[in-house]
Amino acid sequence: MADNTNMKDYELALNAVRERTDFVPKVGIVLGSGLGGLADDIEVVTRIPYSELEGFPRSTVEGHKGEYIFGYIDSIPVVLMNGRVHFYEGYPMQKVVLPVRVMALMGVEAIILTNAAGGLNINFHPGTLMCITDQNTAFVPSPLIGPNDSKLGVRFPDVSAVYDKELQALLHKAADDLGIELADGVYLQITGPAYETPNEVKMYAMLGADAVGMSTGCEGVALCHMGMRVLGITCITDMAIVNTTFETSHEEIQKVANRAGAQLQKLVKEVVKRF
Ligand code: HPA
Repeated sequence: MADNTNMKDYELALNAVRERTDFVPKVGIVLGSGLGGLADDIEVVTRIPYSELEGFPRSTVEGHKGEYIFGYIDSIPVVLMNGRVHFYEGYPMQKVVLPVRVMALMGVEAIILTNAAGGLNINFHPGTLMCITDQNTAFVPSPLIGPNDSKLGVRFPDVSAVYDKELQALLHKAADDLGIELADGVYLQITGPAYETPNEVKMYAMLGADAVGMSTGCEGVALCHMGMRVLGITCITDMAIVNTTFETSHEEIQKVANRAGAQLQKLVKEVVKRF
């Protein structure tokens, strides 16, 4: 069932934020699961838990936080989403994308979406960082279902370039300069919460996807609808597809994911400085 969240709800949500702070961020950043390190690595001005904002969804997943953090990376004003909600938690897509849409309405010039995902490209390994070049959301409902509010965007948006090409180039340049390896790839969103069966893995790989996860795609669609410039970065935490080039234990994966998380953090900070 479509939830009729419209511009009025977004304006109410934005007003709720504005009652707490008049901070105007330049860049919005969504921190994916396990990638929250950046939250401790910025100059914090203020924090607002989603639970204190009328109409905001609350994360039901243990260990997943839900708050906006306003602050500075160097001298750049940013807003972080420390935690997001997922479709598998039972919220309609329109609610799932509310926090990113409100960030867009705060006046940011660009939004960086990060996530942890399973690898489908046999050349990847746990720890691979991937610049999202395109996405496949055919397996999840669209957040744009329901009456369209033309103040947000058009009824039938062009999604041929959800991820901004210039920002992708900027990200690659930053990665090169930092000596961080960065792959390119297509992100495919599934509803979750179950991971993929072996046959599903085969199918997603056949469709041309390089990574599979349970977030981000719907946010990409909602932000593209609003005309926002979006950059997406995936941290491959495990290989959904079996490859023979990289065998490892759970412990090793954890270690690799931690290291990759730290590298992702460095990369995001560097690219924000270059915006
Ligand atoms: N599938 C979906 N989401 C994920 C995965 C996966 O294999 N790994 C990390 N997040």
